[in-house]
Amino acid sequence: MRRVRDPMPGSAAAFDLQGVTREFGGLRAVDGIDLQIREGEQIAFVGPSGSGKTTLLRLLNATQRADGGTVAVFGANAAEATPRELRALRSDIAFIPQDLGLVPGLRVHQNVGLGRVGKRTFLQNLRGLLAPRKEDLQTIHGILDRVGIEEKLYHHVSTLSGGQQQRVAVARALFQRPRALIADEPVSSVDPARAESIVALLTTLATEGALTLCASLHHLDLARRYFPRLIGMRAGKIVFDAAPDAIPEDTFKGLYDLDDREMVET
Ligand SMILES: Nc1ncnc2c1ncn2[C@@H]1O[C@H](COP(=O)(O)OP(=O)(O)O)[C@@H](O)[C@H]1O
Ligand SMILES: [Mg+2]
Repeated sequence: MRRVRDPMPGSAAAFDLQGVTREFGGLRAVDGIDLQIREGEQIAFVGPSGSGKTTLLRLLNATQRADGGTVAVFGANAAEATPRELRALRSDIAFIPQDLGLVPGLRVHQNVGLGRVGKRTFLQNLRGLLAPRKEDLQTIHGILDRVGIEEKLYHHVSTLSGGQQQRVAVARALFQRPRALIADEPVSSVDPARAESIVALLTTLATEGALTLCASLHHLDLARRYFPRLIGMRAGKIVFDAAPDAIPEDTFKGLYDLDDREMVET
């Protein structure tokens, strides 16, 4: 199968993983992965539950350490970074966790404002929550407009629908002004029509901002239609890494069929 070796010649590496392993009590959640992702690439990670997608995404944003191998993020070896350097690295990467990580009791603009929490001092953050600066509110309003919920600026997050909350999480990520956007199952809890509109939004925003986008997705169909590079994972390993058109139908099916066989055997 054709491997995506140099999809964007000339652009720098956003992430470079060499022989990376991450274990949990003897179980290899990520098992010897080599992976290069260039700045500006848009990649969907697919594979059955438990195949290691979330663990891999957390290695990319350096919130999990590797037990073996090396993880380089924007050219810096994550294992050698000082706490301060790690904070700087992470502030370049917006991570949208599967549960979104929003604070339900806070208003939309306050949640979005938290996107820059890692770039500001404690007092600046406190002020951002209690009395946000006019220019920040304007920026946040502009971002909310971009993600389609500008009228929700002062609403409490707990009053929004699942799809709207997803958009707040995307807005918070954009407010961070990241170089890379990592989204873990960004559409797992919304209906198919909303799922498509959010995936379309993420890929459009990444293209507009020249951001590197890595997303894990349950929806194989959306992954194939919206992402130029798909990485299939199975038991902590990469089983394919190619453009959607270059991946045979059987390979897609096999990714999940294997799971069924295992379930029958146990
Ligand atoms: N914090 C953890 N503690 C113990 N096991 C974990 C932890 N995180 C992940 N795992 C295990 O690692 C494997 C891969 O999990 P994960 O990366 O969440 O996969 P996916 O996102 O593809 O569902 C699973 O077997 C899971 O149970
Ligand atoms: Mg996961």
